[in-house]
Amino acid sequence: MQKHICIDKKIPPYNKIIQVSSDKSLSIRTVLLASQAVGISKISNLLESEDVLNTLKTIKKLGINYKKKKNCYEIYGFGLNGFNPKNNTVINAGNSGTLGRLILSLLIKTDKKIKLIGDKSLSKRDFSRVVKPLRLFGANIKSKNNCLPVKIQGTEFLRPINYVENIGSAQIKTACCFAALNTPGTTFIRAKKSRNHTELLFKYLKIPIKVKSNKEFDLIEVKGLQQYNAFNYSIPGDISSSAFFIVLTLLSKNSEITIQNVNINKSRIGLIIILKIMSAKITFKNKRIYKGETTADIFVKSSKILKPINCPSSLNSFAIDELLLVFLVVGTKTKGISTFKKLGELNKKESPRLNIAIKFLRMIGIKVLRNKDDIKIYGKPNLDLKRNFHVKNFLKDHRIFMMSCIAALTLGGNWKINDKDSINTSFPKFLNVLKNLGANIK
Ligand code: S3P
Repeated sequence: MQKHICIDKKIPPYNKIIQVSSDKSLSIRTVLLASQAVGISKISNLLESEDVLNTLKTIKKLGINYKKKKNCYEIYGFGLNGFNPKNNTVINAGNSGTLGRLILSLLIKTDKKIKLIGDKSLSKRDFSRVVKPLRLFGANIKSKNNCLPVKIQGTEFLRPINYVENIGSAQIKTACCFAALNTPGTTFIRAKKSRNHTELLFKYLKIPIKVKSNKEFDLIEVKGLQQYNAFNYSIPGDISSSAFFIVLTLLSKNSEITIQNVNINKSRIGLIIILKIMSAKITFKNKRIYKGETTADIFVKSSKILKPINCPSSLNSFAIDELLLVFLVVGTKTKGISTFKKLGELNKKESPRLNIAIKFLRMIGIKVLRNKDDIKIYGKPNLDLKRNFHVKNFLKDHRIFMMSCIAALTLGGNWKINDKDSINTSFPKFLNVLKNLGANIK
């Protein structure tokens, strides 16, 4: 089967209403939390992408059954620490850092030996960031060079911790909250602000959690060993998947798009905040609250030239998966110099995204200066590319693939983009949605 796609035409103007795939963070979290709830949880509109299917496979291997009925997954939980795996079970998190890191935190009390593995990209990623706090809880974990495979065997002897998370990583914060569930006493986490789905879910499930916030940090307290009941949840659209269509529309001519029912949690909309500072026309319609989360329809219009930005690094973690797209907009739609600081976390994703983004922008003729983890991008609006471009060697990173498609459909040139299967990680219907908007993709 052909593993690459070719694009040699810009997308023609469109005016459409679309839906994108369901939110990945909420899908993985609700499945994992359902696996620890008492009774049958029902999750509808679950994202059926590889990361989430691997989450379902993982809980199954750990002794939790589930069934799909129409649009709904029923998950049969036995309560806290309800996993019942065979000894020496191997679980495979595939490409998913979120699954890999969060599942370890739910295994700290499971009295069997479990080995966690992942694909080539995940095997290069740092696990010490969760292994470190989990060891403080008392967890028994072995890993070589802080990478996969990680071996864990649960223990009865757990103690609550007082932890400072100062990277701004929701995965680390969530791992601490999840570990606190099976730990006696109250765990305290001082976490640099990042996406807060876990805290909102805990509140909705009536798991004892308190959150106090100051400008930069959230002070979180979780009281452990409190059973909670099974729940129903319907997953909204993913802002990170919507981001590709927001940017496609901004970079296209004479187009408009409405993306229906998207999660617009404040801690996820860094991309929109940044683009609005740059004077992009993006509005929310039909705003509503669902179980503590805000959702809306997002309306976007094509844009003439936008303003460059001196981006506050406090927005980085609210746009962490969308910064590649921000760089693309800044590089191709603004006149002037934009600056971004403290981007080191970007190199710790599915691929070294900061390095790849810089290479990509330079490939299409945009000047980028780098000083360690800070960059300056010299905007070059109205690019009309004519050359051939081949995007390859990006560790099958789904977001690099999708960002490349958006560039190819808006900037001209003849593009060959490798590893189209990478979209199965987060957005299997990505190419279909593009084709329905009129994109010519071979
Ligand atoms: C995620 C958190 C982010 C993000 C990832 C999903 C989550 O990672 O990049 O795609 O669901 O918690 P970090 O928390 O490591 O920044």
